[in-house]
Amino acid sequence: MPDTEYVLRIKDLRVEYRVREGFVKSVDDIDLDIEKGKFTAIIGESGCGKSTLNNVIMDILSPNAVIGKNSRVFFNGEDLLKLDRERLRQFRWRKAAMVFQAAQNALNPLLKVSEQFLDVIEDHETGEKKRESLQRINKLLELVKLDSRRVLSSYPHELSGGMRQRTIIALALVLDPEFLILDEPTTALDIITQSYIFDILTDIHNRLGLTMALVTHDISAAARLADNVVVMYAGKIMETGDIHSIFNSSRHPYSRGLLNAMPSIEGETVKKKPIPGSPPDLLNKPPGCVFHPRCGLAGEICAKEEPGLEDTGGGHKTACHKWREALP
Ligand SMILES: Nc1ncnc2c1ncn2[C@@H]1O[C@H](COP(=O)(O)OP(=O)(O)OP(=O)(O)O)[C@@H](O)[C@H]1O
Ligand SMILES: [Mg+2]
Repeated sequence: MPDTEYVLRIKDLRVEYRVREGFVKSVDDIDLDIEKGKFTAIIGESGCGKSTLNNVIMDILSPNAVIGKNSRVFFNGEDLLKLDRERLRQFRWRKAAMVFQAAQNALNPLLKVSEQFLDVIEDHETGEKKRESLQRINKLLELVKLDSRRVLSSYPHELSGGMRQRTIIALALVLDPEFLILDEPTTALDIITQSYIFDILTDIHNRLGLTMALVTHDISAAARLADNVVVMYAGKIMETGDIHSIFNSSRHPYSRGLLNAMPSIEGETVKKKPIPGSPPDLLNKPPGCVFHPRCGLAGEICAKEEPGLEDTGGGHKTACHKWREALP
C-alpha cells in the first residue's frame, strides 16, 4: 500500500530509560503503521510501554529517555525525530493532539474554560485560521455533549470529572488535528461515565473521520471502539490486525490470554482466566520471545530466538514461533 494510506509509520523504534541499575527497555525495536481514518486500539498490561510509545510521537518523553539511533517516526512521510523545535510545536496539537493519561486534572484550575480554549488558539493560530478555530469551540463542545455556554464560563472545579474529560477532548480538537491519541482517557471515572465517553469518541470518529488511537488496558473498550488493534507486551508488539481477526482468530498466545482474562458472561456464569505469572523486568528481559516464560505453547526455539512480526494473512501480523498451534 502507498504511504498515503498511513498517518503514522514507525520503524525500529527503541526507547530506553536510563536508571541507576541500567536501561529500562520500554519500547524495544517496534514497527507500527497507523491507518488513516481508522480507530486503532493499543492494548496491553500496565508497564508494557504504551504511554512511552505515545510520548515519543508527541515528543514529551522524560529527560532520562534515550531513543535508538535507527528509530524513525514518520508522520505523513516526515520523520518527527528530525524536526526542529518550531516544527515540532506546530506538529503538536495542530497535526496531532493527545488526551493524557489522568487528564482530568490537566486543566488549569485558575482559568475559566473559555480562557483555556483561547490560550491554545492564541498560541498556535493567526488570521483566518484563528477565526476558524474560535468558531469551532461551540461546535466541539456540542460534539462532546456539553452545554457550551455553561462550560465556557466555568472554572474546572465547577465541572464533574466526566465533564472535565469531555472538555479536554474538545480542547484537543480545537486546532482540527489529523490524529488524536487518547491515553487511558477514562481511568478514574465511574463505569457509566466511561461508557458515555466511549460513545462520544465513536461519534467523533464517525462524524469527523479523524484518525484516532486509544491506549487502554480495557479490552472491552477496544472491542467496542476500534477498527484495528495493536497488542503490546513488555515493550514489544505481539500482534496487530483488524478487530475481528484479533478477537475471533487471534494467533498469539499472549493476546489469547488477554482475551481470556477479560470477564465474559455466558449464561449465569462469569468466566475469567488470568494469565499465570507476571511481565518480565524490563531492565533484564528474558532471551528469545519475551513472553515465553508465561506461555503454555513455548518450546525450545522460544527461549532462544526472538520471533519477528510475521504476516499471517489478511493484514494480520503475529510475533510468535508457534502461531499455527495457537489457531483456534
Ligand atoms: N521516566 C522513567 N524512568 C524509568 N522507567 C520508566 C520511566 N517511565 C516509564 N518507565 C518504565 O517503562 C516501562 C513502560 O512504561 P509506560 O508508562 O510506557 O507503560 P504503560 O504501558 O503506559 O503502563 P500503564 O498501563 O500503567 O500506563 C515501565 O516499566 C515503566 O516503569
Ligand atoms: Mg500508560
